[in-house]
Amino acid sequence: MNYKDKISNFNISNDAVIMGIETSCDETAVAIIKNGREILADEIISSATEHVRFGGVVPEIASRAHTTAILTATQNALKNANLTLNDVDAFAVTEGAGLLGALLVGVSFAKALAFATGKPLVPVSHIRGHIAASYLADKDLKPPFVSILASGGHTAVIAVKDYYDFEIYGSTIDDAVGEAFDKVARILGLNYPGGPNVERLAKEGKNCIALPKMLKNYKGSEFDFSYSGLKTAVINYVHNSLDRGQQINKADVAASFQSAALDVLVEKALKVIKITGYDTLTISGGVAANGYLREKLTKAVQNKNIKLVLPEKRYCTDNGAMIGAEGYLQYLKGNFADLSLNAKAVVALK
Ligand code: KG4
Ligand code: ZN
Repeated sequence: MNYKDKISNFNISNDAVIMGIETSCDETAVAIIKNGREILADEIISSATEHVRFGGVVPEIASRAHTTAILTATQNALKNANLTLNDVDAFAVTEGAGLLGALLVGVSFAKALAFATGKPLVPVSHIRGHIAASYLADKDLKPPFVSILASGGHTAVIAVKDYYDFEIYGSTIDDAVGEAFDKVARILGLNYPGGPNVERLAKEGKNCIALPKMLKNYKGSEFDFSYSGLKTAVINYVHNSLDRGQQINKADVAASFQSAALDVLVEKALKVIKITGYDTLTISGGVAANGYLREKLTKAVQNKNIKLVLPEKRYCTDNGAMIGAEGYLQYLKGNFADLSLNAKAVVALK
């Protein structure tokens, strides 16, 4: 029997061990997840240090790093979970969005594992994966809830109506919030990855520089975001000050940018909570690791009967566990791919 026929007769069980494989950017991540909620193993091998001197991720370097790391990450995950490949019920892999060459390493590797074991291959959206990290953070979490998605490629406030059905209330019309952090980091002479370095510097500064309010006179959704103008305002502030021979306080710039970029996420998410009547708010994506944002959200929900789910920082940035968690949901639906699965640079937000 060929692979496609074998998988079409596959017996899906609620009790399932899923391997989650993530290689969309500079993390080679492999995790093993039981029933979508329990992390049995979680390996991350990052090539971040190899990109620092270039100021951002170099796709070819990332792809090559994945090819050398993926086997080790997988072997370590199996060893730490005390399992063999045959104990895995399905292989979930990020099919997109991300860097094509990088994604292809994970997709090809997952195909090989699925073919060799005769188990399903489950394609997973990286975006849905980020949101699913909340199911690992709170084992009792069930939709409906509102999720703030804040990563290097996406910014949105989403109503998660059920495990599969999302409604996007607002999203960015230009740069993503993480991208803005990375660009502002570069203006301030900070190394890649920009987000954590801006956060560190912001701790030494004050929010005292007036930056423009986002989307003045904008006709689209009141929940949309725009980070391109904010980034330009920071560039102009720095250049104009230097032209006038004035010293800039980089820590104040970082702190002012950080509040301008993140306060609006909190405000809009709370409005969506109000409109939907949902009582739970979760946060996902690399920017969700930001301490200022986490604190601001914690304060914002106080005395409001809103439950806040903050995944551990490790599960906000890219990881394999989130792909295993979302992979489990897709597995239950029988959303299996055959060996023609290809990587996708872009996937729809939903
Ligand atoms: O989710 P992620 O790991 O990858 C994407 O799917 O994009 O997010 C990476 C983004 C980068 O832009 C990075 O600068 C940002 O998340 N980031 C942060 C922090 N940690 C990571 N931004 C602000 N504060 C942080 N602590
Ligand atoms: Zn990501």
